[in-house]
Amino acid sequence: MARVLVYYSTQTDTSKLLGQDFGAVLNNTFGEGICKVTNIRDLEGLDVLGEFELVCFFISSYGDGEQCDEGMEFYQTLMSADDGYFDKSLTHFTLFGLGSSLYDLYQGAAKDFYGQLLEKKLDSLGQFGMGDDGLATLTDDYEGWKFDILPQISEYLRIPYQVSEKYKGRYRVLELVEENQLHTHFSTANKPPYHSDKPYVAHIHGLKRLSAVNKDSKTVIHATIDLDSSDSGLHYTTGDHIGIFPSNSDENVDDFLKIFGLYEKKDQHISIIPVDRMSTKCFVPSHTTYRQICKNFLEINACLSRKILRQISELFISSEQTKQQLLELSKDRKTFMDRVVSKHKTLASLLVKFDTDCSMIPFSFLLESLGPLKPRYYSISSSSVKQPQAADITVSTVQSEGDNFEGVFSKNLMNMLDDKDQTFSVPIFLEQTKFRLPFDTTTPIIMICAGVGVAPFRAFIQERTKSTPTKKRQTTNLYLYYGLRNISRDLLYRDEWESYSNDELVVKFAESRPSKGLRKLYVQDLLQKDAGLITDLVCEQKASIYVCGDAKKMNRGVSKTLLEIIKEKKGGIKQADKFLKYQKILGKYQEDVW
Ligand SMILES: Cc1cc2nc3c(=O)[nH]c(=O)nc-3n(C[C@H](O)[C@H](O)[C@H](O)COP(=O)(O)OP(=O)(O)OC[C@H]3O[C@@H](n4cnc5c(N)ncnc54)[C@H](O)[C@@H]3O)c2cc1C
Ligand SMILES: NC(=O)c1ccc[n+]([C@@H]2O[C@H](COP(=O)([O-])OP(=O)(O)OC[C@H]3O[C@@H](n4cnc5c(N)ncnc54)[C@H](OP(=O)(O)O)[C@@H]3O)[C@@H](O)[C@H]2O)c1
Ligand SMILES: Cc1cc2nc3c(=O)[nH]c(=O)nc-3n(C[C@H](O)[C@H](O)[C@H](O)COP(=O)(O)O)c2cc1C
Repeated sequence: MARVLVYYSTQTDTSKLLGQDFGAVLNNTFGEGICKVTNIRDLEGLDVLGEFELVCFFISSYGDGEQCDEGMEFYQTLMSADDGYFDKSLTHFTLFGLGSSLYDLYQGAAKDFYGQLLEKKLDSLGQFGMGDDGLATLTDDYEGWKFDILPQISEYLRIPYQVSEKYKGRYRVLELVEENQLHTHFSTANKPPYHSDKPYVAHIHGLKRLSAVNKDSKTVIHATIDLDSSDSGLHYTTGDHIGIFPSNSDENVDDFLKIFGLYEKKDQHISIIPVDRMSTKCFVPSHTTYRQICKNFLEINACLSRKILRQISELFISSEQTKQQLLELSKDRKTFMDRVVSKHKTLASLLVKFDTDCSMIPFSFLLESLGPLKPRYYSISSSSVKQPQAADITVSTVQSEGDNFEGVFSKNLMNMLDDKDQTFSVPIFLEQTKFRLPFDTTTPIIMICAGVGVAPFRAFIQERTKSTPTKKRQTTNLYLYYGLRNISRDLLYRDEWESYSNDELVVKFAESRPSKGLRKLYVQDLLQKDAGLITDLVCEQKASIYVCGDAKKMNRGVSKTLLEIIKEKKGGIKQADKFLKYQKILGKYQEDVW
């Protein structure tokens, strides 16, 4: 009978992976079956929590420090419960929050959750853990928290524990003689409803390069994904996201298989079976091959974590010299960030530099430490009113010549672009957002973006210019503030902006790498220049503000500038801050930043 329950709430599966890891660690450490792991969306009522001695939560933040969609219902149930609800049936919990310090309300959801649990008179066992995705230290933060909390759980459950030096695989790999039908990719036989666990395999076409070929430009690619809505039941609303599962390139897959001594048997039929089915779910099909797993299911290009490097050095590397070199790289966070993370070293690209035998590393270890290939998210750049059966995407490819690094889906798109004659399919699912046009089509809208952040605004503009006939409008009510590197090389969808009249749309550009003689401008400089207009639009005409693109730099600059601008009208920075926060609550100031 399980004594501990692990709950995770997730949007992009990171907290699911951590929750499952934590469950497996508890089962390995304190005895098989002691812990059960569940998605928070599957919880029916609060009573079930009282059946356990300890509940461990993994909570990720979205929106403005809000619960992710899956966790919202549980959070509301918790909020509405009485203070003494658990009445000693449950007394303790642990909580690890996942977030990114790039967002203003860092760990907002986890903090709210923590507060609610304390209000319900539950005690926190150990520290409130926090993992920072924005600093790329999330795995490290989690490992540190786990290290501290295990002795406390041991004491609480009254089960002594010892750290095992021996590696216990979480999966058994069965090499099969019989050659049944193989499962090589997500199934095209999936039936609706489609979601991230059961994606729809969609046709992708219409690829074209939107930016000029130039060493200073990023390659930006447009593509269209058929949703076949009447059959698939997939319907999006303007402003939504699409999730796409990429596949690793053959070249990367072969390199990976060679390093781990699997290349010769790459097409061997195998079955992967979790040792502990209670806490470990298998993310690969039941009958497949090493090559198919590495191509379509395993994140072989993920940036390394210190934990993986340490474990590999300590458990599997026989050469003392290599072991010490690898441990040296992982000895402290700064060395690791400088020499591994910032150079985007993957497990394979790091190990290949050491002349060492890696065939000792079990495939189970690779599966559990690298985890499933994650979907990549894109802001849909078409309007659902204008194009309901298909979703456009606008992708700024991730490529870095210096490090010889190319993003996985970026590489997929580049290959498709070079091979226009072929037809391509990608597993996809839709994700609803709150990034929505105002109901009232006469509300002025201010759209602020940098680079590929223009994607959802293309959709907004398509929709507004279609649903609001120009003749009926009295004043201009669409404003696009668009930051880009250089207007002659990097302007995306040039023809489209030119096709709208000034009465329909006002577009203003800020060039950060302009031609000689012109001043470098960021999009917030444009807002500052138009301070009078912005104040009038926001404070008098009740305009809605939308920001899209980079969360790290651009969004911070923009929100600071908006505050400065509104400050004059509102009589001080505090009042302006209060006003803008209220606009966010009303949904009149929205961000789609990543
Ligand atoms: C909600 C949301 C909406 C998004 N919308 C869009 C959109 O509309 N358009 C768009 O283009 N993108 C968008 N993105 C980003 C997109 O999801 C992918 O992250 C991006 O396309 C890269 O995917 P990839 O598979 O090519 O790269 P991956 O294989 O995932 O690699 C990218 C990773 O490598 C890191 N990296 C990249 N270059 C280097 C380097 N030289 N050194 C070290 N690290 C490096 C990045 O920080 C990133 O973590 C969005 C993301 C989110 C979360
Ligand atoms: N997570 C991911 O994997 C991923 C993938 C794609 C895009 N993105 C994010 O989305 C953003 C847009 O992508 P992109 O490829 O289109 O970017 P981009 O072309 O490199 O950048 C767009 C514009 O933003 C400007 N900018 C830089 N710092 C700024 C700041 N502090 N304030 C305002 N503007 C600033 C850039 O100026 P400079 O000339 O000074 O750089 C450039 O003009 C990227 O910055 C990136 O963070 C993330
Ligand atoms: C669109 C978006 C919005 C986010 N908003 C916040 C936020 O407001 N506060 C925060 O701390 N983290 C925020 N994050 C970061 C996520 O919480 C973090 O990446 C986390 O690891 C995701 O976990 P998951 O994969 O389990 O969903 C946001 C991430 C995205 C993509």
